[in-house]
Amino acid sequence: MKFNEHIRVIADFPKEGISYKDITTLLKNGDVYRAAVNEMVEKIKPWKPEVIVGPEARGFLLGAPVAYALGIGFVPVRKPGKLPARTISETYALEYGSDTLEVHADAIHSGERIVVVDDLLATGGTMAATANLMRKIGADVVGMGFLIELTFLKGREKLVDYPVFSLVEYEK
Ligand code: PRP
Ligand code: MG
Repeated sequence: MKFNEHIRVIADFPKEGISYKDITTLLKNGDVYRAAVNEMVEKIKPWKPEVIVGPEARGFLLGAPVAYALGIGFVPVRKPGKLPARTISETYALEYGSDTLEVHADAIHSGERIVVVDDLLATGGTMAATANLMRKIGADVVGMGFLIELTFLKGREKLVDYPVFSLVEYEK
């Protein structure tokens, strides 16, 4: 399946010079959505995860169906103030300012094998922060999977400690 044919590219969104990769067109097509999830499942299965972790919001769209297909649990990593029980958080730098991610402190047992799934690897900031959060909580991060990778942003350089795959690469 050529997933790139189902991803809509929007020039100059959200600002000039950015070529936005819109996955809503892929998600809307049931056959393509299912094929993308199934391909991620096949790549993740050999890592034998016990839990799939997905960062809000678009990580939920792929991570949850992957977890369902594998018959394992899903743990959301959320933006601040959304989770009701005790949380662990990780703050990371953005180009301007910073961002924070949170997970429930009791969501993952120490040593549990987890795979993180997100829609997009760009600078790698979100995934590196998620991995740090997982290490803080004691999880064993056994891999990371993305639908899309923007290779020119070199996000993988922040993730060298982990096995990483993406289904579609863009060079610009
Ligand atoms: C987008 C995307 C990834 C992240 C990738 O999320 O869904 O999570 O950016 O960028 P990075 O590799 O440079 O961190 P965004 O923060 O826009 O929020 P959303 O998922 O809630 O739409
Ligand atoms: Mg996101």
